[in-house]
Amino acid sequence: MKTEIASVDNLSEKEFSYTQAVELLSAGETVAFPTETVYGLGAIATSESAVSKIFEAKGRPQDNPLIVHIGAKEELAAFTQNVPNLAETCMDKFWPGALTLVLPIKNDSLAKNVTAGLNTVGVRMPDHPVALELLRRLKQPVAAPSANRSGKPSPTKAKHVYHDLNGKIPLILDGGATGIGLESTVLDFTTEVPTILRPGGVTKEMLEKVIGQVNESKLTDNVEAPRAPGMKYAHYAPDAPVYLIEASTEKVQQAIKQIHNDEKKVALIATEQFLLTNANYYFSLGQEHQLEDAAHLLYEALRTCDETDADIILVPIFSKQGVGTAIMNRLEKASNGNWFEI
Ligand code: TXA
Ligand code: MG
Repeated sequence: MKTEIASVDNLSEKEFSYTQAVELLSAGETVAFPTETVYGLGAIATSESAVSKIFEAKGRPQDNPLIVHIGAKEELAAFTQNVPNLAETCMDKFWPGALTLVLPIKNDSLAKNVTAGLNTVGVRMPDHPVALELLRRLKQPVAAPSANRSGKPSPTKAKHVYHDLNGKIPLILDGGATGIGLESTVLDFTTEVPTILRPGGVTKEMLEKVIGQVNESKLTDNVEAPRAPGMKYAHYAPDAPVYLIEASTEKVQQAIKQIHNDEKKVALIATEQFLLTNANYYFSLGQEHQLEDAAHLLYEALRTCDETDADIILVPIFSKQGVGTAIMNRLEKASNGNWFEI
């Protein structure tokens, strides 16, 4: 299959690109599109055969449910039921936006493979002009996980999607770099107290201001029958192993020396206070304390390591405040929890 990258930059291209995307989706094909978090790989959520193409293209395990994307709140009633008031409050406050709500599903409303047989469904309205335009033209819910090969960092640019899925999907809508750079917060409303299953750009602090107490899931990888099956798989992993390290230039310098003594090469992914260390490769996560910038830059940095011959990737940790919680969640997965021992 030939994979086309379609621009939405000028008026004539734009019209053609959306028409093509809507036609492909309506015909049961997959289309990759930008959202404000990362690029998604979409298919009509009511078609089992269309959704199965997502799993195939990504190499995604069948028991990992997909997030359903909508362009208008009115679409919700067709596939959810007993939506709690607090969930409504969250929609009003955070949609369109980077918040996925896990809600009770209406029987036989969506293709079974969207939810991996769960009786709940994750749903969000993305805050991106291209995603919204596409969804509003299509007028149907779209199942869309991140548009990467399973296990790899999520794509924040169209070229990342192309790299991972070239030949496996017909179309990528190119909307430039995504804004937030990390996936949405997943908030489960089927527990007594709403529970964050995956931290993201909408933080616990922001949620608690609006709906009161919110729990954080303590689930880690490899838990049996996890609530969010996606939690148990390797994620965001470049080819070389990732090691976390204390955010001290002295410690980082020491680690680099040790790695060089072993005749190995190191890529350092860090904010600019680490710029002058002598790592073989350095990928900037922006200025110190600018967590939004670090989130925006992280996945591309992890991906670019695969273009180097680094044996080890070193990442100084971030404080778990605000979006730092989401950054550290992804880094802990990318590193499989490994710390560099000095
Ligand atoms: O920002 C995002 O959320 C992006 C863009 C494309 O919208 N999508 C995304 O999808 O990150 P994906 O498939 O890569 O991650 C979906 C996560 C997984 O951890 C999955 O287990 C969880 O959401 N999830 C989906 N449906 C669920 C459900 N019914 N119950 C619990 N967890 C669910
Ligand atoms: Mg993903």
